[in-house]
Amino acid sequence: MTVTGILRTVLRHVPDALVPGTRPASPPVRHGQHGHVGEPVSRLDGALKVRGEARFAAEVAMEGLLHAAIVHSTIPRGRIAALDTAAAEAAPGVVLVMTHRNAPRLKRPEIFGKGDGVAGSNLPVMQDDTIHWNGEAVAVVLGETQEQADHAAGLVSVSYKAEPAVTDFAAARKRARDPGSILGEPAVIETGNAEKALAVADHRVDATWSTPPLNHNAIELHAATVRWEGQQLIVHDATQMITGTAGSLAKVFGLKPEQVRVLSPFVGGGFGGKSLWSHQILAAAAAKLAGRPVRLMLSREGVYRLVGGRTPTVQRVALGATRDGRLAALIHTGVAAMTTHNNCPEQFTFPARHLYAASNVRLEQKVADLDMLANTFMRAPGESIGTFALEGAVDELAHKMKIDPIELRRRWEPERDPSSHAPFSSRHLLKAYADGAVRFGWELRDPTPGQRREGEWLVGMGVATATYPYYRMPGAKARLRLDAQGGLKVSTAGHEMGMGTATVQAQHAADRLGLPLEQVSFEYGDSLLPAGAMAGGSSQTAGTVAAVAAAAESLVRKVLKLAGNDSPLAGLKFADVVARDGGLGHARDPSRHESYTSILKRARRDVVGAEESGSLPLEQMKYSMHSTGAQFAEVGVNSVTGEVRVRRFLGSFDCGRILNPKTAASQFRGGIIMGIGLALTEETLFDPRSGRVMNPSLAEYHVPVHLDVPEIDVIWTDLPDPQAPLGARGIGEIGITGTAAAIANAVFNATGKRVRDLPITLDKLL
Ligand code: MOS
Repeated sequence: MTVTGILRTVLRHVPDALVPGTRPASPPVRHGQHGHVGEPVSRLDGALKVRGEARFAAEVAMEGLLHAAIVHSTIPRGRIAALDTAAAEAAPGVVLVMTHRNAPRLKRPEIFGKGDGVAGSNLPVMQDDTIHWNGEAVAVVLGETQEQADHAAGLVSVSYKAEPAVTDFAAARKRARDPGSILGEPAVIETGNAEKALAVADHRVDATWSTPPLNHNAIELHAATVRWEGQQLIVHDATQMITGTAGSLAKVFGLKPEQVRVLSPFVGGGFGGKSLWSHQILAAAAAKLAGRPVRLMLSREGVYRLVGGRTPTVQRVALGATRDGRLAALIHTGVAAMTTHNNCPEQFTFPARHLYAASNVRLEQKVADLDMLANTFMRAPGESIGTFALEGAVDELAHKMKIDPIELRRRWEPERDPSSHAPFSSRHLLKAYADGAVRFGWELRDPTPGQRREGEWLVGMGVATATYPYYRMPGAKARLRLDAQGGLKVSTAGHEMGMGTATVQAQHAADRLGLPLEQVSFEYGDSLLPAGAMAGGSSQTAGTVAAVAAAAESLVRKVLKLAGNDSPLAGLKFADVVARDGGLGHARDPSRHESYTSILKRARRDVVGAEESGSLPLEQMKYSMHSTGAQFAEVGVNSVTGEVRVRRFLGSFDCGRILNPKTAASQFRGGIIMGIGLALTEETLFDPRSGRVMNPSLAEYHVPVHLDVPEIDVIWTDLPDPQAPLGARGIGEIGITGTAAAIANAVFNATGKRVRDLPITLDKLL
């Protein structure tokens, strides 16, 4: 998700003098000899997961636990005409059936971007007989076992009084509206006269691109295990926004923030889909009504019906170039589907705002409101599908101009951000291209399509730019506690969704305090801890690092004070010391050093702690900060069946400093794999008459499986960003950006067919 615009609004009144110049956003690591940051440390939570000891939300045991099953509406809009729950209530093991008639009265949840809400939709949850989308929950059945609940859910009989609904994107597009802003950024950006420049350009492309709705398919199904202790609500959840989920739930139930505790120590994949949706609210409401703990784990179908995914888009990209290859006109416009109860307009024009130097620009996004489940953030919302259109058009233009597509991009490389005119904090996209081209063997590509044949297979190569903004949200806090044995505990309500958060933050804290990695523990995943950075917008690492850095500085100051005058450190100021060898030492005199153990013992302290917020993320106000990369694909297209196989893939990234090459490579690869699904197989199919998802299962919605995924090579520049904490920009989402375009461009190189409509299924190639 993106927040620069929101941040700009929040930080508008910060005096310019406070905005950093070349000052880094966090103090540099006071390196000891350990140097954990940058090492390929294996994930610290790996063993727990392999042994099955990591407890996920649906695995938490509770005394007297009830199991929930959901009945979903079968119409997109209207009212419940009749609702008969008698048979379900009489079924074996059923304790309660909750409907709008007996559900507790609740406030509407706040959506992301409004206040501090993190809900996917602001519709009331089970408060009346109104139906807002096909699949909305109309009843929750609580049973002693999951099987009893599931069985009884099938006995609830509902009839509806349907009202006309807008469920067809093609029809809704005709009434597309201006969303006002795209997540805080202007919906329209205009420089010069792009249409005019296009009309007189020496070379031009102008085409329509479309992308389908997509669904979240994290391995771990969305789940909440919930109990009430009097007026205290305890939710074991799978969320990537612990602090926000707790705050939002408190408001829905009319509680004080401290009355809600959300625990989410392990999350089996989030990708933007694990925020606050109706199921956590329903679980808490049902538990309240039943007076017993409740587990509500969505079925795979339930995830499709209740949790939003990526919205469909129709995009126009028109590019006009001069004879010498300069970009005279850049037009990227289009429409995304949305609803009136969320605000997630899918920022597909964002890549075009930052990638290319163009003399005339027109970027415009509209939204079309549908009576559907709210769409939401899904790994690189906007950038993933925006790059499909933009980077496909660049490839098409390069082909027309008979210029190598990498060379064309080199000519368009801007010196400053083309839309904000801010300097780039650090941008080595051309190096990523150059390194990638060598590694991938780009020179072997024949620019004329259809030249390389291996039996039935036509083989082609394609390239595209990857791009994702750097974000750091304000407000993350961290607490550090150092004990007399030299153990350090880092605490923040952060998230481990498999990215390696705990590992990287332990590496970081160990370096800050000059400790061996084994002496550092990282505590996260609990809203009782200091408010953490959310795991969204590829921003958690930067946000957490800044908070830990601030707390470490404060801790070192306290320890230095405790050392006092009897220490070898006596008389030293904070600026004179470095943390090393399990204690503090003089920065230039290796003989002056005292261990933490010795300092704390002498001061008769068992523990010394510090809690701080990270600095305000002002770096992103002054600089244009983006992770970028070059994606290279080689595909084979079967000339008989039209089947596309990705044969080789390389991602070459410029994301600042890589803090842990092992977990980072995994993040990049995961993004690329999701991009292969976006390119070739994934598509949520809606019945346009009823707005009902027709393929709500992994059997019919095809995510890439092992046989679809070739060897994926990843390399990176590893050039630290001087403005980012630890020099690191985000890496969680960029892997999916540019991937679909690289594959589509490779398909063109193989076959001469330009597919502008995702996914690239075989029917489109025959
Ligand atoms: Mo991401 S779509 O911000 O989890």
